[in-house]
Amino acid sequence: MTSQLRRPLIAGNWKMHQTVGKSVDLARAVASQGRFGPRTDVCVAPVFTALLSVADALKGTGVALAAQDVYDRPEGAFTGEVSVEMLADVGCTMCIVGHSERRQFFGETDAAVRQKIDACLGGGLVPIACLGETLTERDAGLTLDVVRRQLDAMIENLDPAHAPKLVLAYEPVWAIGTGRVAKAEDAQLVHAVLRDRVRSKLGDAAADSVRILYGGSVKPDNAATLLAQPDIDGALVGGASLDAAHFARIIHAAG
Ligand code: PGA
Repeated sequence: MTSQLRRPLIAGNWKMHQTVGKSVDLARAVASQGRFGPRTDVCVAPVFTALLSVADALKGTGVALAAQDVYDRPEGAFTGEVSVEMLADVGCTMCIVGHSERRQFFGETDAAVRQKIDACLGGGLVPIACLGETLTERDAGLTLDVVRRQLDAMIENLDPAHAPKLVLAYEPVWAIGTGRVAKAEDAQLVHAVLRDRVRSKLGDAAADSVRILYGGSVKPDNAATLLAQPDIDGALVGGASLDAAHFARIIHAAG
């Protein structure tokens, strides 16, 4: 289980699902599963169009609002994009960045992900910064090389004071939406390597305060084993977060 310094975070990534009405219903259903907050941080990330309405539905519930992506510039002629300030304006306190689906389908690079992280940290949003290897990379024995490269791009020369506001999410691409979950001990090994890397780049205090979530087919029946690992500080949940009861069971597995 995670150290005292690092409160577990369970984040629901709703991806491109739900209209506004359905998002509000789901947010209410999640909030009605219990009062979250004292021991575990919880957030949900609806589609952009539902953010404002979901923010309203979540007021006073202890469930935080996250966006699924952001652009790093404050404003301007960037058709289709939204800024950190705009997300904060509708009530977001967190934002997923660098999800593998964005890297894979929208060509997002390590450098672009870093700019988004910096923009979030600069504007008061907690970035949930995703990294993880593909099946081909894993089969070639490259997992650690890939995640170190992705992590280095995220944290090189970062001010260590930002670490408590930085969330990393290790999501092996082969485990996302496939029902294939990483073995808890394999995930723990990668998390420990990532934390060591943070230690060597940013120091002890940063390594001990940065939260590292696991993502990829987290379900009610595998959450407890994953969350019991010393370097797994929570979960980024896709499919199972669309079912409020399943999501609640994952939250309760965190403590
Ligand atoms: P999954 O998605 O839980 O459906 O595998 C996780 C994610 O992509 O964040």
